[in-house]
Amino acid sequence: MNVVVDLGDRSYDVVLAEGARHQLAALIARRAASARVAVLVTTPSIAAQPWFNIASGIDQHVLTVPDGEAAKTLDVFEVLLEEVAQFELSRSDVLIGVGGGALTDLVGFAAATYLRGVSLVQIPTTLVGQVDAAIGGKTGVNLRSGKNLVGAFHQPIGVLCDFETITTLPERERLSGLGEVAKCWILEGGFAAELTDVSLHDLVVMSVKLKAAIVGADEHEGGRRALLNYGHTLAHAMEKVALARDRDELRHGEAVAIGLAFAVRLAAALGRVDDSEVVRHDEVLDFFALQRRIPEYFPTSSLLEAMAHDKKAHHDLTFVLAGAEGFETVHDVDPQFVSDVLEKFRGEQ
Ligand code: GLY
Repeated sequence: MNVVVDLGDRSYDVVLAEGARHQLAALIARRAASARVAVLVTTPSIAAQPWFNIASGIDQHVLTVPDGEAAKTLDVFEVLLEEVAQFELSRSDVLIGVGGGALTDLVGFAAATYLRGVSLVQIPTTLVGQVDAAIGGKTGVNLRSGKNLVGAFHQPIGVLCDFETITTLPERERLSGLGEVAKCWILEGGFAAELTDVSLHDLVVMSVKLKAAIVGADEHEGGRRALLNYGHTLAHAMEKVALARDRDELRHGEAVAIGLAFAVRLAAALGRVDDSEVVRHDEVLDFFALQRRIPEYFPTSSLLEAMAHDKKAHHDLTFVLAGAEGFETVHDVDPQFVSDVLEKFRGEQ
């Protein structure tokens, strides 16, 4: 099926299907008809697979970058742009990202900035990429000071989510994707009991539909798009502390799952929701076998410090929280209160 990200004349389809990657040639013919060069960026293991046929009449090149977060650095970004320049990619040509969320963030940023913007196709091959990273036009790389601190909004001309690529994901990669899926299910008001007969493909479709609707309404995160950051204040803090220590202890979605469990406890402690909402969150996380424990190697003080300096925090402690009116962004939460709830949450574990 196709889900449309409705952005006027920059609207595009997210194709969700077995074998969707084979629609690449047709997509380029339809959306970048004057392209003469296509540079496909992927990881060495994906590049070893033989399906990258684009179209006759197009010079096709394949470049590789490191797997995972190691791709999201300014160094890799610079090398990639120099390599792209060697192929004389012009404004009418196309860059294609094939890989996980980190890779599509990097390739998206290259497409946003090379020649001040070239066409981009994203082919996310992981669950986290398909349900979140590759959709909506957020692109960028990390700095040692924090994740995604350098980037740009740059919408693709199409996203091909091939279900074949997510059937054999390593367990932790699958769990990481499920962290973002759980976020969407919870934002949509779903309960664990309703998940029993829902397939993974249906969950991807549900997540993409939610994200497409939100991005269509608030592309540049002036309001509603911030809801997609539910659970991310604590998650980003853990990732930032890990990044500063050059360690990669938690996958993004694993951190988000812990962040969701904390955010609902904070909402309950603030009197915004009752305990049934905590139970709803916990049951959804349990259904997906997502653990809620903050690893001991993250000191509470470091997490508070990192949360206070979250790039989305406007210089205070900001969380997306559940409440009587649904989910909303709440600014200026008292640091001591947050610290107390965090300590209590850790005590539960
Ligand atoms: N990952 C959150 C967003 O795209 O807005």
